Amino acid sequence: MIVCHCNQITDHDIRAAVGWMRAADPDTIVTPGKIYHALGKRADCGGCMKLFVAQMRAADGFAVGEAQPVPAVLTGLRRTAAG
Ligand code: FES
Repeated sequence: MIVCHCNQITDHDIRAAVGWMRAADPDTIVTPGKIYHALGKRADCGGCMKLFVAQMRAADGFAVGEAQPVPAVLTGLRRTAAG
């Protein structure tokens, strides 16, 4: 299925890119921008982003550890205004 019509990116392309990234670095933070970059493309209109992210999240290997896209060591780093 075509996910990004501007760049002709398919759901298969997204799953493959997530797999490549995980194989290269199991702790990498997977983002849509990194997937576009891995595929040698750039987002254009952004109209696909909701479906793009859904496909990315559904890809095998997207989650790290306990079903989180961010490595555990990097979670909880944001501080609130209260401290
Ligand atoms: S449809 Fe994906 S950038 Fe336009």
